[in-house]
Amino acid sequence: MSDVTEFLTETPSAFRDENAESLREHAARALGRARERSTALTGAVDDEDLVRQHSKLMSPLVWDLAHIGSQEELWLVRDVGGREPLRPDIDDLYDAFQHPRADRPALPLLGPAEARRYVGEVRAKAFEVLEKAPLTGRRLTEAGFAFGMITQHEQQHDETMLATHQLRQGEPVLHAPAAPGRRTGPLPAEVLVPGGPFLMGTSVEPWALDNERPAHEVDVEAFFLDTTPVTNGQYAEFFDSGGYDQRQWWSDAGWEYRTTHDITAPRFWYRQQDGWWRRRFGVHERVPAEQPVVHVSFHEAEAYAAWAGKRLPTEREWEKAARFDPATGRSRRYPWGDEDPGPEHANLGQAHLSPAAVGAYPAGASPLGVHQLIGDVWEWTSSDFSGYPGFAAFPYREYSEVFFGPEYKVLRGGSFGTDTAAVRGTFRNWDYPIRRQIFSGFRCARDARGV
Ligand SMILES: [Fe+2]
Repeated sequence: MSDVTEFLTETPSAFRDENAESLREHAARALGRARERSTALTGAVDDEDLVRQHSKLMSPLVWDLAHIGSQEELWLVRDVGGREPLRPDIDDLYDAFQHPRADRPALPLLGPAEARRYVGEVRAKAFEVLEKAPLTGRRLTEAGFAFGMITQHEQQHDETMLATHQLRQGEPVLHAPAAPGRRTGPLPAEVLVPGGPFLMGTSVEPWALDNERPAHEVDVEAFFLDTTPVTNGQYAEFFDSGGYDQRQWWSDAGWEYRTTHDITAPRFWYRQQDGWWRRRFGVHERVPAEQPVVHVSFHEAEAYAAWAGKRLPTEREWEKAARFDPATGRSRRYPWGDEDPGPEHANLGQAHLSPAAVGAYPAGASPLGVHQLIGDVWEWTSSDFSGYPGFAAFPYREYSEVFFGPEYKVLRGGSFGTDTAAVRGTFRNWDYPIRRQIFSGFRCARDARGV
């Protein structure tokens, strides 16, 4: 072990002071919050809407709902609780690996009333299990991991359901206060992230998933990172200068995608005589210039970066900018420190139904002065999704390992639709580079050799 490694440390476990009772309360609150959100997202539309497929990219909302219950039954009721199955007959219907999203509407799915009853019964049993389960002695239940995993799973499906709402046609059915405006003066365009090693990933965060583990030392060369995500106003300049029609900014795969799918602007944008407009959860509005661009594919992000004379950051660069504290050498849980996200730190949890203006969260900036790394938009990185050195699949290969490979790109930081339970400085999301129904944006980086 090098001297450097001894210098590099990680914040100790977030739950280090929690006893079993407070852990149970913490898990119960997290599960309850997730269920409130699932209930709101599925209660906002009528039954006909719940069973409809709003896009081939998405499941009917009623599939997501029963799938949430099915996973909870498998892990919390049957595995942790050792209880009898409630509905073994529907396991296959809600196994995401058995049925691609496009095929799900044709399955004999539980109807809305049945699905609601099912998830309610499962939850009642899961709470019984939570009251008694030993939270030590077995890795699956250590520090309440299984309950955390199921909470994150439900919150991730809630974000997917929010993306389905965005694809849905019709009048607005979701409501939230407008996202905040800028709360800083002008910010520098870029921040210099110093070269050198830092500790990436985590070995101590109790509810971190297998792909975030273990903590490992990574050397990163000095680089410049955009202080904020790329805004709609900046992105429109790329469009206005003809970027979508100029082959030189696009990779081969990106150009192929751009031309065969007739990609001409971010998804949900449309041109009016007075400029760009967008449809956002049923509301038609002018595209706000100061908000981060959202609903762009990896290919569009990469083309913009090339046009700007920059590139996308690698995943390790992103994480160093988000976690490394140069004063102590320590990797933080979040850019602002170790405390869980609050409304002053980041635009998370569907508190607002759009990204917030750049400069809206000065309290959430990293020690180096990088803003809005957490929340607002998922940020595309240039990295393929892969396992860290020492990776071990847990609790099952299908959680992450089967997705490792060059066909998926990593996204970081969470969006306005990501709950606080389902994002942290180490959290990794992945998707195909053509996807843009997700709440995806980006920021740019560039080399700083010789600085
Ligand atoms: Fe799932």
